[in-house]
Amino acid sequence: MLRGKNILLGITGGIAAYKTTFLVRLLIKAGAQVKVVMTQSASSFVSRLTLSTLSKNPVLMDFVNQEDGSLSWNNHVELGLWADLMIIAPATANTLSKMANGTCDNLLMAVYLSAKCPVYFAPAMDLDMYRHPSTKASFDKLESFGNTMIPAETGELASGLHGEGRMAEPETIVQFLIKDLTKDLPLSGKKILITAGPTHEAIDPVRFLGNRSSGTMGFELAKRAADLGGKVVLVSGPTNLTIDEGVTIDLIRITSAQEMYDACHKHFKDTDVAVLAAAVADYRPKHVAVEKLKKKDGDLQIELERNPDILFSLGEQKEHQFLVGFALETENELENAKGKLKRKNLDAIVLNSLKDAGAGFGKNTNKISFIDKNLEIKTFGLKTKPEVASDIWEEIIARIHA
Ligand code: C5P
Repeated sequence: MLRGKNILLGITGGIAAYKTTFLVRLLIKAGAQVKVVMTQSASSFVSRLTLSTLSKNPVLMDFVNQEDGSLSWNNHVELGLWADLMIIAPATANTLSKMANGTCDNLLMAVYLSAKCPVYFAPAMDLDMYRHPSTKASFDKLESFGNTMIPAETGELASGLHGEGRMAEPETIVQFLIKDLTKDLPLSGKKILITAGPTHEAIDPVRFLGNRSSGTMGFELAKRAADLGGKVVLVSGPTNLTIDEGVTIDLIRITSAQEMYDACHKHFKDTDVAVLAAAVADYRPKHVAVEKLKKKDGDLQIELERNPDILFSLGEQKEHQFLVGFALETENELENAKGKLKRKNLDAIVLNSLKDAGAGFGKNTNKISFIDKNLEIKTFGLKTKPEVASDIWEEIIARIHA
């Protein structure tokens, strides 16, 4: 959620300022660009050099820079426009009061007053200051401006007293931001289960039966669901694909169909939407050799037994879940896909035909039809897999919100 976001961090003069080094690290790790503006008094608590090194940007404090013998102007309006969101942490009683009253006596205040983006503030002060009616009045006024408070926590305070006023921990601030930014997204609060990739069925310790699925379609579906605010569990067979840092997806890597079955069943009960895009092996060797099979004269026969059909088994257990399967067909595509939709008790099925040039395994493009349980069919043109993932989610969201 924070990936690619421009975040302006305003630091004011309280002891909790030292924790902003960790906050900057977490925001950068989540994929955000961070610029820091601090007050003079904040610089007594945390070093400008530390923050500029961590944020990979100069840390601004004054309207005018006097570096290398030349003067330059820090443009507060530009900074305000650059930001997708602004966090003031720690926000002291003094700064909160200035924000509430529009007192513009430093660069940070000028940036705050120029910012058009959502503003969050994380107060930090001693408990009596936190409870003082004038501080409460600042909170109320700032919330009436549309700013969002990240409440202080209760615990030991720098004064030695115990009570409310500790700045929220950096991890809590990041979680708060993510939750707040995703609250209006269409998959917010929904648990999404996705399967991807092939499965490998062991023959002996070094050999397996597999298929050419790259896992791209399932990974793109998972990434898109996370962007739409979903809490995503991605169960993937062996692939080279990874999830970018900063994307919150619970990736469970498995090898065999049985392991995929177990992982899916573990998560299905409280899942809201399940999309099974994996190319699961239908059969597995009946006996897995303990030692590597030796070459012998003549042919080798391997007896295969059926793997469980994961999608079918989830269809049997389905209660409130919206269940989507994939069908990769070579003949009688539509009829076969409709048959699977009914037999596996699905809410929708995504059909891709191997006959369509550019569709299917190992390609970066796909061409699909989305068929729902009322047999309403929507056919799309040839698109990239991220675009296809987007189309599929649009169709699902239209139905779960209907
Ligand atoms: O019946 P068929 O294998 O064509 O169905 C494809 C759909 O069923 C896909 O969504 C695939 O992920 C799922 N499937 C499964 N477990 C299997 C075989 C297929 O979940 N053993």
